Amino acid sequence: MRTVSSIQELRASLHKVRPQTIGFVPTMGYLHEGHLSLVDKAKETADVVVMSIFVNPLQFGPNEDLANYPRDIERDSRLAESRGVDILFFPSVEEMYPPGSKTNVSVQDITESMCGASRPGHFDGVTTVVAKLFNIIQPDYAFFGMKDAQQVAVVMQMVRDLNMPIEVVPCPIVREADGLALSSRNVYLSPEERRQALVLSRALRQVQSMVGLGERNVEKLRTAIEKVIQESPLASIDYIEIRSYPGLMPLEELHGDCIVALAVRFGNTRLIDNIMLVAS
Ligand code: PAJ
Repeated sequence: MRTVSSIQELRASLHKVRPQTIGFVPTMGYLHEGHLSLVDKAKETADVVVMSIFVNPLQFGPNEDLANYPRDIERDSRLAESRGVDILFFPSVEEMYPPGSKTNVSVQDITESMCGASRPGHFDGVTTVVAKLFNIIQPDYAFFGMKDAQQVAVVMQMVRDLNMPIEVVPCPIVREADGLALSSRNVYLSPEERRQALVLSRALRQVQSMVGLGERNVEKLRTAIEKVIQESPLASIDYIEIRSYPGLMPLEELHGDCIVALAVRFGNTRLIDNIMLVAS
């Protein structure tokens, strides 16, 4: 595996590998099996796999965890290499955002609900950095986890609207054996919070079984989720949303492709999880 920090050097390396196909896995590091599952998919799909590790300041709000975001580049490099990443791009903030930048990329409408409502400006930060990374790397395929389902919808919309010649490949959520979705932020949880964090996946499983038994009423499903989450005294609900996917339109009755998405805080740690449903 080659590790490069400069855009110029990365472009020179990629120039040599073309016309082989390039698969790209963008991350903020502190890698876990969720990130590494994207590498596995990239290796199945493309000839050369590029991973980026960049904690993007633009997508963190003023009161969020940018300074404390977990980082361990040595461990990440070992994991990336052992999983078969060919090129690791690890730029500095100055390399990505030299002084004088005046452009940002902003997707309308589907960025206003859910995580976009709780984290104003977050998705502009995501689309700006992802557009820059796409322009730098010019991958054939880019791999994103459905853990961040709204991010997948937003990036797909950007790619379509800006005619980027890239196939966005959504990949399934990887969970711990007990159901908790893997996240770099899980390290912030105390043992008791970690135990109670199981309410997210439990609530989603409950919805899935209610829908399996024929329930289609969104308000009833929302109430059932709320009840499960309230069983955990340390949990505070940020949002419970049941919407169409990927259009993210509010629904009264489930119909077609839908998402049930949760954001729940445990102390200062905000966890998200979701499940996709197809209702007829
Ligand atoms: P990060 O949170 O590091 O996640 C990188 C990728 O890993 C995302 O596509 C995310 O959805 C995926 N991922 C995280 N946990 C996962 C899990 N449990 N199962 C499957 N996939 C999982 O998302 C970002 O970084 C940033 O917003 C980024 C796209 C890199 C732009 O800065």
